[in-house]
Amino acid sequence: MASPRATGRQRPSLSDSEAIARHKQAAASAAAELIEDGMSVGLGTGSTVAFLLPAIAARGCEGLRCVATSPATERAALALGLSIATLDELGELDIAIDGADQIDPQGWLIKGGGGAHTREKIVAAAARRFVVIASAEKAVSRLSPPVPLELLSFGVARTLLALSPARLRDSPVSPDGGLIADYEGPIEDPHGLASRLSDTPGVVDHGLFAPELTSTIVIAGERGVEVRPGAKQPPSKSL
Ligand code: 5RP
Repeated sequence: MASPRATGRQRPSLSDSEAIARHKQAAASAAAELIEDGMSVGLGTGSTVAFLLPAIAARGCEGLRCVATSPATERAALALGLSIATLDELGELDIAIDGADQIDPQGWLIKGGGGAHTREKIVAAAARRFVVIASAEKAVSRLSPPVPLELLSFGVARTLLALSPARLRDSPVSPDGGLIADYEGPIEDPHGLASRLSDTPGVVDHGLFAPELTSTIVIAGERGVEVRPGAKQPPSKSL
């Protein structure tokens, strides 16, 4: 699960945590309804996706093939009997479903609380339809730091200086050997910051996801499940 530092949020109380878990489950269950026989499916990473995997398995669809964005997701999916392939084996995906740390009103996302944002962005971009699932507290009026980063280890001190203010996170390297860090400065303009982060040598990728990547946002809270259209329009079936 994303750490409080990674999401920039206070640790919730036990009753809040229980409500948040119920909301994550509700969003995940709603999104699992989109899965149909024969689909190729990108699976995100995190505690919301942990609710998604059994919901997909429970649908009992035939011929599903899935790509996992992290070793943890791959292990959990295999344990549930889901079939895992590589992205290169599957090519374009029918759908990808993933969580988020923050969602702003324009559809900008911050992802990477679990440090998996590089693979998650590749999988989201490879999907005809990218669906974000989240509990209601992830919907914010304005994005706030930190923004997760994956950095090459070569010259990382110079890279961090160029990204200042940024610091390495105390977490294992990514499955691809990248160092996980966080940009901790202001986010006045997500588009401008995304360009700055992408243009900095040594950055493998960052956790800002542009609205154009997302087809559908499913947010669950005490008032039920809200489905917001994203900027990337879905091909056919809607929630
Ligand atoms: C992992 C991610 C997750 O989707 C994000 O951190 C949300 O996590 P959770 O579902 O545990 O709240 O981007 O890299």
